[in-house]
Amino acid sequence: MIRFGIVGTGRISDWVLKGAIQDRRFKAVAVCSRSEDAAIAFISSHPEVFDKDTKVFTSIEKMAECPEVDAVYIGTPNKTHKDYTLACLNRGKHVLCEKPLACNSAEVEEMIQASRRNGKALMEAMIATLNPNFRAARAKLPEIGVIRQYFSSYCQYSTKYEALKQGIVANSFNPQMGGGALEDIGIYTTYPLAVLFGKPQSISSCISTIKTDCGEVNTQGMVLLGYEGMTANLSYSKAVDAHTATEFCAEGGSIILDNIHNCIKAEFIPYSAPSGGRNPIKPRETIREGLEMDSYFYEFEEFLNVIDRGGIESEINSHEASLVNRQIMDEINKSVK
Ligand SMILES: NC(=O)c1ccc[n+]([C@@H]2O[C@H](COP(=O)([O-])OP(=O)(O)OC[C@H]3O[C@@H](n4cnc5c(N)ncnc54)[C@H](OP(=O)(O)O)[C@@H]3O)[C@@H](O)[C@H]2O)c1
Repeated sequence: MIRFGIVGTGRISDWVLKGAIQDRRFKAVAVCSRSEDAAIAFISSHPEVFDKDTKVFTSIEKMAECPEVDAVYIGTPNKTHKDYTLACLNRGKHVLCEKPLACNSAEVEEMIQASRRNGKALMEAMIATLNPNFRAARAKLPEIGVIRQYFSSYCQYSTKYEALKQGIVANSFNPQMGGGALEDIGIYTTYPLAVLFGKPQSISSCISTIKTDCGEVNTQGMVLLGYEGMTANLSYSKAVDAHTATEFCAEGGSIILDNIHNCIKAEFIPYSAPSGGRNPIKPRETIREGLEMDSYFYEFEEFLNVIDRGGIESEINSHEASLVNRQIMDEINKSVK
């Protein structure tokens, strides 16, 4: 059993708990909120997770000092991630922190150093790359030949975008809180690139922004990345819905993921040799389909595996992947004034 403290009582903490409790090693023993009332209400609304002995904290440092807490899940706005993570790692707690791990790559480096110095696990809570359908597709990549192109899109119209147009700035759109469409959903297109291909040789982007009372914030973007012999084409938006799949195009065929955020179906389309000037389309083969567990189960499973083996980082959502991903996002953000 690993005893967790949950930081933040918003909807993401609600969502992840459904997956967390599917791993029998997970036990929630504490909640940290800015408000004691909010923590108590959160505990009572999850009787399946918390028992009567659950501790309430209104200070992250106090929670991090509690000897009955082994690990912390951080589900608060991006701006808080670095300080909260350091407070916990430096007091001997393992940290599973929401995406993006931090607001810039210098912060990520500081957090990685703290994880190493304290010998405590640090992992970015990024479900896309831990999803079993994504992992099955990844395992097949070496069989499909040299990958030449990667297309990925995550565009989802947001009610918070509607509010933004009325002048109401949610944390996820507040640049002073580390918000923006790239940080909120564009990251689902960049993070797999960082995991699979590492640092690109070139990045160029075209970004849309809105000026708010809190500063200028990105609402959508398109990004081109160059790798040795491969190009990547990313698109993300909180201003429209789009229904475009993610695709790895290799010389021997193509792998398609229906949804990069939370892949439900991964398919392979083999390359068809030209015949009579046309390529007959071969039927798609399903690589893997469906999820057996809640989509947030997989990040807790991975994090608990890291702790169980006495490690400090995941081999998939590794420290390096989080750093490279944040470096890519920092570069994209350079075009936001
Ligand atoms: N993995 C996913 O699928 C997913 C989905 C959505 C969001 N996220 C990530 O989850 C994090 C939170 O996003 P969100 O949109 O849920 O944020 P949010 O609703 O604005 O905040 C979440 C919680 O954080 C606390 N909080 C709010 N403002 C704060 C502040 N100024 N300082 C400290 N704590 C504050 C609040 O809990 P208390 O009132 O209890 O303090 C709030 O309920 C972000 O990093 C986001 O990227 C991940």
